[in-house]
Amino acid sequence: PNLLPAVADSAPYLVIGSGIAGLTAALELCKTARVLLLTKGSLAESNTSYAQGGIAAVIRPPDTPELHYEDTLMAGAGLCDRAAVSTLVHEGPHQVQRLIELGVPFDRKDGAIALTREAAHSRRRILHANGDGTGRQISATLIHRAFRCGNLRLYEEEFAVALITRSGRCCGAVALHQGRLRSFLAGAVILASGGSGQLFGKTTNPAVATGDGMAMAYRAGAALRDLEFVQFHPTALYRPPAPPFLISEAVRGEGALLRNEAGQRFMPDYHELAELAPRDIVARSIFREIEKTGHPSVYLDLAAIAPDRIRERFPNIYGNCLKYGLDITREPIPVAPAAHYMMGGVWTDLWGKTSLPGLFAAGETAATGVHGANRLASNSLLEGLVFGARIAAYLAEHPAESVPDAADPLRVHYPECRTAAARQAEDRRALHRMADHYLGIVRDRPGLERAAQLLKEIPPGPAALEPEYLELQNLLLLGELMVSAALRRTESRGGHFRSDYPAPDPEWRKHILFREHTVEVS
Ligand code: FAD
Ligand code: SIN
Repeated sequence: PNLLPAVADSAPYLVIGSGIAGLTAALELCKTARVLLLTKGSLAESNTSYAQGGIAAVIRPPDTPELHYEDTLMAGAGLCDRAAVSTLVHEGPHQVQRLIELGVPFDRKDGAIALTREAAHSRRRILHANGDGTGRQISATLIHRAFRCGNLRLYEEEFAVALITRSGRCCGAVALHQGRLRSFLAGAVILASGGSGQLFGKTTNPAVATGDGMAMAYRAGAALRDLEFVQFHPTALYRPPAPPFLISEAVRGEGALLRNEAGQRFMPDYHELAELAPRDIVARSIFREIEKTGHPSVYLDLAAIAPDRIRERFPNIYGNCLKYGLDITREPIPVAPAAHYMMGGVWTDLWGKTSLPGLFAAGETAATGVHGANRLASNSLLEGLVFGARIAAYLAEHPAESVPDAADPLRVHYPECRTAAARQAEDRRALHRMADHYLGIVRDRPGLERAAQLLKEIPPGPAALEPEYLELQNLLLLGELMVSAALRRTESRGGHFRSDYPAPDPEWRKHILFREHTVEVS
């Protein structure tokens, strides 16, 4: 039913999510108005905190924004929005400078910011902090600042369940806190709830990445775009039962090579840029090599990097592998691809406005068009930073509507609860198997049709007011839309590869958009 739970708080702005996008928007907005920020776990629990390689930005010659622009377009495989990419690469350096001023301790060499290289970047332009601990440093700095802003009210363990609208404008959210629903009302809502990697069993993403924001936005009437484009990271640790911990692309950027089980280097056979080819190509090549050899992983050989350098440059990866009995200064790392990043999401314009008035989106939740069909490494932190700040800049010029009152005619867009709470662990495993198998690196029509069928077969039953159960409803909705988009796109491009249509089709330089149960291709 369309019940509005008791109002817990209201303010001009409500931000959902405490990654780089949400914290950036909140820190800017709270300079002039009161801001509420909800996050479903602790403030530090986000994809942002796990980011390793770094943040891409042009900070000195001989690099130029034009080169960064070209590299981004090249990786995006013909589907980037050029204006969005231009905004990203031109505003990026200024925003990264702001991060430095806020106190992010980027690594330095001889006094200057150290820059590393990652796949498909034509220059060294990746800033990193604490070696491979970039995300944690950025997150900690932004959280530290957030605590010092008197205008910003932080709500942890506050699981956003549904958006609220008034006469077709978004004006708040209902959230679950310690088993009870409560409402937060605002003049404008900024969705920064991250990606949906948890649709897959094999993913580099932490548990919070369940696509809640995308599902909530869709139910409230906002358009979602590019959902077929999932990025698989080529190199996640493969050492069961260890989780598929990310082995940063920067390791290849520093000279590590990929070898198959027989010790042969194979990437030069697939692409002229070899280990530094775009991420989708490296992931697919590894997939092929695994299929060819029947061995479940390939190996990342770090012999070209001195042991001291490995420990200093990749302390996080080194320590984590050691925890699982692997000394990477002596042995190659067994790796296999894993779902890593969602290129698609809630459609936005260049100011983060979605198609639902009053609702803004930034970061991995959003589809701004900067990544096209395949994201360039380390452009994601940059996107959250640039577009999070742009939303605040827009709202400074165009202040939000008045904050609604609980007595107004408000509508809550609750999820449809379709599965049995008692079976949720089993259903989530089935969903993972479906996604890994049929929605993974290589797709085809029979597999996608089977996936659609499997999703329909999950039996209904009584619901539960629990975050894990509600996450599953969000993942199921997204899974259905992603399968539908992947079936429609009868070509291969970027992160979407169809073995039955293995080439790009110029007719498909188009986007698939879902909105209120309709599909548009344009
Ligand atoms: P997130 O950082 O994911 O934050 C989302 C927030 O929303 C979280 O706080 C979450 O708890 C909250 N949330 C979600 N649902 C709800 C809900 N229902 N209610 C309330 N709160 C909610 N990108 C790079 O550019 N460089 C890198 O080096 C890099 N390395 C990576 C390494 C790993 C292991 C991973 C997983 C990703 C990496 N990425 C990297 C990608 C990048 O980290 C993310 O895309 C980016 O941090 C997303 O930022 P965000 O602010 O949009 O979302
Ligand atoms: C990595 O360090 O390889 C991840 C970088 C990214 O996802 O952009």
